[in-house]
Amino acid sequence: MTVLPTALDVNSPDYRAHREAMLAKLAELEAEHAKALAGGGPKYVERHRKRGKLLARERIELLLDPDTPFLELSPLAAWGSDYTVGASLVTGIGVVEGVECLITANDPTVRGGASNPWSLKKALRANDIALANRLPCISLVESGGADLPSQKEIFIPGGAIFRDLTRLSAAGIPTVAVVFGNSTAGGAYVPGMSDHVIMVKERAKVFLGGPPLVKMATGEESDDESLGGAEMHARVSGLADYFAVDERDALRQARRVVARLNHRKAHPDPPFAEEPKYDNGELLGIVPGDLKVPFDPREVIARIVDGSDFDEFKPLYGTSLVTGWAALHGYPVGILANAQGVLFSAESQKAAQFIQLANQRDIPLLFLHNTTGYMVGREYEQGGIIKHGAMMINAVSNSRVPHLSVLMGASYGAGHYGMCGRAYDPRFLFAWPSAKSAVMGPQQLAGVLSIVARQSAAAKGHPYDDEADAALRAMVEQQIESESLPMFLSGRLYDDGVIDPRDTRTVLGLCLSAIHTAPFEGARGGFGVFRM
Ligand code: COA
Repeated sequence: MTVLPTALDVNSPDYRAHREAMLAKLAELEAEHAKALAGGGPKYVERHRKRGKLLARERIELLLDPDTPFLELSPLAAWGSDYTVGASLVTGIGVVEGVECLITANDPTVRGGASNPWSLKKALRANDIALANRLPCISLVESGGADLPSQKEIFIPGGAIFRDLTRLSAAGIPTVAVVFGNSTAGGAYVPGMSDHVIMVKERAKVFLGGPPLVKMATGEESDDESLGGAEMHARVSGLADYFAVDERDALRQARRVVARLNHRKAHPDPPFAEEPKYDNGELLGIVPGDLKVPFDPREVIARIVDGSDFDEFKPLYGTSLVTGWAALHGYPVGILANAQGVLFSAESQKAAQFIQLANQRDIPLLFLHNTTGYMVGREYEQGGIIKHGAMMINAVSNSRVPHLSVLMGASYGAGHYGMCGRAYDPRFLFAWPSAKSAVMGPQQLAGVLSIVARQSAAAKGHPYDDEADAALRAMVEQQIESESLPMFLSGRLYDDGVIDPRDTRTVLGLCLSAIHTAPFEGARGGFGVFRM
């Protein structure tokens, strides 16, 4: 074994300051997560309960195997928008009858569970995860359909929800819909496109048009039950495969459906894994509050991998990127972690080689971000930094092993791309509260804008207003800073969630387990042209 040593001094002022800064950010994060948990607020929660109904997360809890974890995804969706944090939808991965499933549950306490643009993005992301990892999909349905005032944003792209359901089914990935309430108009196609459908007595309402619409369209008098009740669908239309007497019965029946899916994981379970040698609580004190101060990512690796055992690859070459092999909850992983922030030519070439090796060996990759991007300047341009960065980005883009990304600190510029940022389709991407991501740092961006404006004024022969420039710079800096923060980015679904650093090993372990449900094979060739 090659156990990583540690140089972290938990009694040093630096460690304490980093820890304090991280704890403050975690407290802010918790307050935002609480908003998602609160759903539509006490008034609507109470009304929902008075109707004898379970909340979205209670439904999930009863669906899951007792004492198993639920990896909730994108809980901060819609953060910073006009919509409720969480986007009226709960999504995540949990275990049902021993099978890892992708679960989605409408939150009917938020505007009747209607889907807004962020709910749609969140739902589509959940479908992507189910498809990539071959996870059976269980939809716990109770929704007012499209959020009508924002229909222009969702009606046309929203068709993808139903398309995805049938594509999952075509790929042999089971889909199960449990209908607890409203599931009308477009929403009727959720049970309509699912492999298995359960409906709750006197609660499910599954029709293309409700009584008022039918009256308008054809003049026919009707009622909810005859148009779309559970009993009608179970006895007459045949859309419901299972009739549930109440919500708990529906969840019990959903568990029986999953028990009979015969859904098998492509990979065997990993061997028993040793815990890291160091306390994971110490992960709070590693990242400095000021991201300009570098930190050694080996301190992080030592606290997340099995036995703190890490075999570093090319440790003397391209030293601002740490690469090496480890296991996480028994699954082999190749790790790429930024050390000094900047990526130079040597780091880029080393990364490209390492990614190719992982592909030859079918080993998933974990990217731990703390980068300000690729090095700029005459020496580096002349040394071919574009070619070398392109080499790394080519390797990441065409790699076929599953990727996981964790934004620990900075993730700026093309460095975000080379380290498998969101657009490079990592199977999962999480951020720590300390992360920041943007095209460049706020000061640099404001400075560049100012230089460009000054040059533009000079070219036109106009005088330059230095006072206005200072004000503009301050404003831009502040705007970019706020747009770089993890809650803002998570709100826009640019990650799958902001996590407590102490949970990193657990979260990555759950993701690796989900990933190993689907078969995968590294790219043996098939990379683009590597510019040498
Ligand atoms: N778009 C936007 N807002 C919606 C909505 C929708 N599709 N459905 C419900 N809401 C809002 C309501 O206006 C209400 O807002 P308010 O509390 O500020 O007045 C809130 O969500 C709760 O709705 P309410 O009707 O009080 O809840 P309910 O639990 O009694 O009924 C529904 C829920 C979904 C059955 C009912 O609201 C409904 O029929 N909505 C319209 C469904 C529809 O036709 N959708 C179009 C499908 S494409």
